[in-house]
Amino acid sequence: LRENERLAHTGTGWNPTWHQPIDVYETADDIVLAVNEAATNAVDHAYRRTVTDLTDEALQRFLGPLDLDLLGLVIGSEGQLGIVTEALLRLAQPDPPARTVLLALPAFAAVMPVFAALRARLRLQAFEFFDAVSLAHVVAHGAAAPFTDAAPYYAIADVDAVDDDTLLAAFEHCVGQGWVADGLIADGSAQAAQLWRLREGITEALAPRLPYKNDVVVRTSVMPAFLAEAQALIAAEYPAFEIAWFGHIGDGNLHINVLKPEAMEQEAFVRACERVTDLLSACLSRHGGSISAEHGIGLVKKPYLGATRSAAEIAAMRGIKAALDPAGI
Ligand code: LAC
Ligand code: ZN
Repeated sequence: LRENERLAHTGTGWNPTWHQPIDVYETADDIVLAVNEAATNAVDHAYRRTVTDLTDEALQRFLGPLDLDLLGLVIGSEGQLGIVTEALLRLAQPDPPARTVLLALPAFAAVMPVFAALRARLRLQAFEFFDAVSLAHVVAHGAAAPFTDAAPYYAIADVDAVDDDTLLAAFEHCVGQGWVADGLIADGSAQAAQLWRLREGITEALAPRLPYKNDVVVRTSVMPAFLAEAQALIAAEYPAFEIAWFGHIGDGNLHINVLKPEAMEQEAFVRACERVTDLLSACLSRHGGSISAEHGIGLVKKPYLGATRSAAEIAAMRGIKAALDPAGI
């Protein structure tokens, strides 16, 4: 992912070939039709699958290179600025064949070094992580445990297919550095799907515990410093709560889900969580991150917007909203 890079549109006229805008404060997902929806496979092939153009004529008139990028405003806006009434799909090449690797990591501090090491040696399609709490819930929900020995953290990666020697050399480098304790390379697509279930099944597995969700983002370059601080903060402030950490860490986007103790009242739980969200917002602000990432600011995180967006930025957003939606629909 080239952070904060806006890939230029390469076509002209009526049907330009758009790529997704990349906002450092958004996860690198397939942000199509104004929906900011998670996808896990956009690390080194940013937006290859992005195939959607809005075709509203009023927008199309502004697509020339000297004009403001009004289409870009709408992408990821999740209905805040307008209603999509028409779309044109351009088909793209499917992803190249991938190999899926699951790694057991002995420490949180190993996640980003492993990410960097794999990126240096392989071409990454996806890089996600989850912790032992997340895994325990997915396994309790019916998935098969991947390793006999538990680890505190796990990373799952899809890499462009390479020969075994190249893949093993990257793996052994990480083991040699002490960043990886164990690993599995999927033997075919059925096993790859089984490994991905461990990551993709987390939200569903946690749902019965009514988690208080944090969806935060920082630049991957400051992720290690942010993680160290956020983890210390959360361990100190939430000593009694079970917390699941997982997410699109290859994009700098983390989900921190606080699980409600079964005996606790929902309201008291949320209040306790909101107190920590204040502290987490300040921590994100210090690291140039954002309290909302792929899931958008919504209503729940709205009170914290000012912690990671300046008054001038919020005023600009309000101005844009008023210009495009003067009636506040
Ligand atoms: C995920 C959803 C919660 O990453 O965004 O699993
Ligand atoms: Zn997500």
